[in-house]
Amino acid sequence: MLKIRKCLFPAAGYGTRFLPATKAIPKEMLAVLTKPLLQYGVEEALSAGINTMAIVTGRGKRAIEDHFDISYELEHQIKGTPKEHYLTEIRSVITKCTFSYTRQVEMKGLGHAILCGETLIGNEPFAVILADDLCDNAPDQRNKCPRGDDESVLLQMTKLYEKYQCSIVAVEEIPKQDSNKYGVIAGSIEEKNIIRVSDMVEKPNPEDAPSNLAIIGRYILTPDIFDILRETKPGKGGEIQITDALLTQAKQGKVIAYKFQGKRFDCGSVDGFVEATNYFYKKNNL
Ligand code: G1P
Repeated sequence: MLKIRKCLFPAAGYGTRFLPATKAIPKEMLAVLTKPLLQYGVEEALSAGINTMAIVTGRGKRAIEDHFDISYELEHQIKGTPKEHYLTEIRSVITKCTFSYTRQVEMKGLGHAILCGETLIGNEPFAVILADDLCDNAPDQRNKCPRGDDESVLLQMTKLYEKYQCSIVAVEEIPKQDSNKYGVIAGSIEEKNIIRVSDMVEKPNPEDAPSNLAIIGRYILTPDIFDILRETKPGKGGEIQITDALLTQAKQGKVIAYKFQGKRFDCGSVDGFVEATNYFYKKNNL
């Protein structure tokens, strides 16, 4: 049985909603408190037993490579001082992971970005994390939040993959008026929290949405997705959509949707980013 060993991070987008902050800084490097969004994603992949990180970048994204590398000057300055502990987490991430990079030269959509990652993934099932969907799973003690346990969303999904051996999308219920921000699925209940997907539509108008279950930025994909993506025509917004490629697999009964346990913040929007910041601030200061 093939284990999920690699995680793909599409990180080539412009981050226009965060301009001017994202003019010279990749949006994936925006920090919630002191940690960049992409590092949260990498740590989530690590928590799922994945240590090969495949990052699809674009022009102006060099800060990402520098972040996941040793800064000798900084190490030298900080070594032996009381500030050294600030580097503990990132040092540990760098030690545990291997990073590889490729560039998406033209912005032709998420499906296209994932296809660009084929060279880093090869012929094996893999995970995808969209770092601007920030997920958290530790129970919120203060609010006695009933949702969430100690397993990250991606760990929950890799466990499911062991059972189902097919592509998996993480979904959550959304208000119907938000349908046009997400890929929306429909299907039949397979077991608790698991739906066998029969239809999926990228960013439908609310009246056309097949359900209120929206895909969030966590996927497990089987490698036949690459051949499908090569054949997938531009869809919504004139872009090659992963949702359209997944629909081809879904029609063969090979996609499940998983209502994950935990909390997710849309850090691609200013509101979601602020919400995540407040949440993690409170959580870290319990
Ligand atoms: C992408 C996908 C969409 C998905 C969303 C999750 O859209 O195309 O299907 O629901 O991520 O965040 P984007 O947010 O990149 O426009």
